[in-house]
Amino acid sequence: MRLRPGRDADADAIIRLIGDCWAEYPGCVMDLDGEVPELRALASHAAGRGGAMWVAEAEGRVVGLVCAWPLTDGTWELAKMYVASAERGGGIAHDLADAAEAQARAGGATRMALWTDTRFDRAHRFYEKRGFVRQGPIRALADASNTIEFGYARPLTGAVVAVLDAAAAASAVVPLARVLVDCVADGASVSFMAPLAEARARAFWNDMARGVARGERVLIAAWLEGALVGTVQVLLAMPENQPHRGELQKMLVHPAARRHGLGRRLLAAAEDAAARAGRTLLTLDTASTAAEALYRAGGWIVVGDVPEFALNPDGTACDTRFFYRRLDSALPCG
Ligand SMILES: CC(C)(COP(=O)(O)OP(=O)(O)OC[C@H]1O[C@@H](n2cnc3c(N)ncnc32)[C@H](O)[C@@H]1OP(=O)(O)O)[C@@H](O)C(=O)NCCC(=O)NCCS
Repeated sequence: MRLRPGRDADADAIIRLIGDCWAEYPGCVMDLDGEVPELRALASHAAGRGGAMWVAEAEGRVVGLVCAWPLTDGTWELAKMYVASAERGGGIAHDLADAAEAQARAGGATRMALWTDTRFDRAHRFYEKRGFVRQGPIRALADASNTIEFGYARPLTGAVVAVLDAAAAASAVVPLARVLVDCVADGASVSFMAPLAEARARAFWNDMARGVARGERVLIAAWLEGALVGTVQVLLAMPENQPHRGELQKMLVHPAARRHGLGRRLLAAAEDAAARAGRTLLTLDTASTAAEALYRAGGWIVVGDVPEFALNPDGTACDTRFFYRRLDSALPCG
């Protein structure tokens, strides 16, 4: 398999490729000249939009396709991402997406966005694995296929922290599970014992996404150079006598992404989200010296330790330190 820039002369091959992919889904039909005439000269179309097209070739046949072009404000669109069904699972799609994202970065992109048919569930898993999360409203195309599309996006560069709404949270389960599994394997005392199975971690994050949908918690994610590698939550569902309190939970940065300032940015975002939700008192507990340094540096106050409060992932007992932070010192309390 090799990647090469696409050419207008690839038209017949890519029309066949896309037509075959659409035919996998009931009701998905191609009206070439009525709805997608750009496929007849896609390389020129991409170039005309300031972007580019690539194809993957195997034994001289076109088996994959992708385009990328700039939109506005540092965002590039990933478009026309297709791999022939017989060639899937071997990494061709990742290679194509890598090429498209490299081109976008070289063109100054800081964010990648895409639209995907709500029926293309396999594609959704692929984008989610790459750290894309659902973003914005769905759109309806009024075309022969009655297409309704999800929007996905992800930062491409630098350290970026964002609050995830319910749809974004549900679409971030795969990378969040990877962060949790790897943090537990690395010894983090965050409710789970090692080894934590991926399926259990995904079930946990699905549950957290439902909590976001119910308004019980705020879920925040952090990306480093395009990879979703960090998270924190603010629990808002409190007893009726603590309407002013929020609790920080599951502050996690992937072991490979630590000491890049993500923890600090997650903490600031969590405090901001808590304040926006009207919370004036935050609490948390931790058994991590790294986290403790982070919280102390952020102005959190130590309440004290409970000896042998929990178990480390390896089964040994661990003491736990409790912290609080007021977001508004004028809080009437007591
Ligand atoms: C705690 C954790 C989230 C920190 O994430 P991070 O992205 O590495 O943190 P940052 O890079 O933003 O560090 C901010 C500050 O915290 C302190 N800090 C972070 N890691 C530290 C460490 N290993 N030792 C000492 N101080 C540390 C430093 O003051 C640091 O500032 P500096 O890098 O300018 O010196 C991360 O170590 C982690 O996920 N640990 C495992 C999970 C866990 O225990 N979470 C806490 C649950 S309450």
